[in-house]
Amino acid sequence: VFENLDDATFEQFAGLIYNRAGIRLGPHKRALVCSRLGKRMRCLGVEDYQRYFEIVQQDRTESELVCLLDAISTNVTNFYREGRHFEVLSELIAYWQGQGQNRFRLWSAAASTGEEPYTMAMVLSETLADLSETKVLATDLSTQVLERARKGVYEPRQVEKVPVQLRGKYFFKSGRGEDCEYQVGDRLKGLITFARLNLSEPPFPMHGPLDVIFCRNVMIYFDNPVRKRLLNELYRLLRPGGYLMVGHAESLSGMLSSFKSVAPSIYIKPD
Ligand SMILES: C[S@@+](CC[C@H](N)C(=O)[O-])C[C@H]1O[C@@H](n2cnc3c(N)ncnc32)[C@H](O)[C@@H]1O
Repeated sequence: VFENLDDATFEQFAGLIYNRAGIRLGPHKRALVCSRLGKRMRCLGVEDYQRYFEIVQQDRTESELVCLLDAISTNVTNFYREGRHFEVLSELIAYWQGQGQNRFRLWSAAASTGEEPYTMAMVLSETLADLSETKVLATDLSTQVLERARKGVYEPRQVEKVPVQLRGKYFFKSGRGEDCEYQVGDRLKGLITFARLNLSEPPFPMHGPLDVIFCRNVMIYFDNPVRKRLLNELYRLLRPGGYLMVGHAESLSGMLSSFKSVAPSIYIKPD
């Protein structure tokens, strides 16, 4: 039933998704787009891709566009993913604290289902005695993942990377065996503000200056003009001496005009 995504309609969707989210979908992504949109269309009872495209376009509230972008994005993430970044974060916070700083502003720019900002919050909580002036902003394009992030409920296999001692300290476990769940406690939740933000549409409404930005595994979906615009905006929002962490697979050479590389996938805005 869902095999009627022809070249022209695929191009229409790819164009819309690029214009609205900065996400570049080459022809090799057609099968992926086909199956992900197909799922959404089944929910709506729509059988034709062209018809679905019209529905998205005619919806003035843009809520169907949000659903379409939700369906398209890849949300794979994990606690302590690319763990070196969290070690560096801990070292930086301890160092800055030693210098007399006690107010910290951090941002997880593509937070997905919350594992990244919650890991940041655990690192902060483990490093700082006083968290009263510390905040983590967690944003994503997808309303679905943000909802899951806000809930902060994870299956046992999802929290495998969280050290057992920290699991006990920051999560409530309910149920038993395979069916149990881990719920993030208020101590971490209280540090984080979740919000929807489209990284392909700077300038962003928040005020800097930020100490550390995690913008990981999202720029892979963007092309160079979108990346460049985003990086300029991240640069603007960071304080001098602030850090940017990007995904290990993201090659940003030639685009980081003003950032200075300090280690693979770690950059500083020079003082
Ligand atoms: C692979 S996940 C990365 C999660 C986390 N940063 C990590 O490294 O584990 C990519 C996330 O980027 C989000 N995303 C995609 N395009 C976006 C955009 N234009 N603005 C904001 N977020 C976007 C997706 O919704 C998804 O949750």
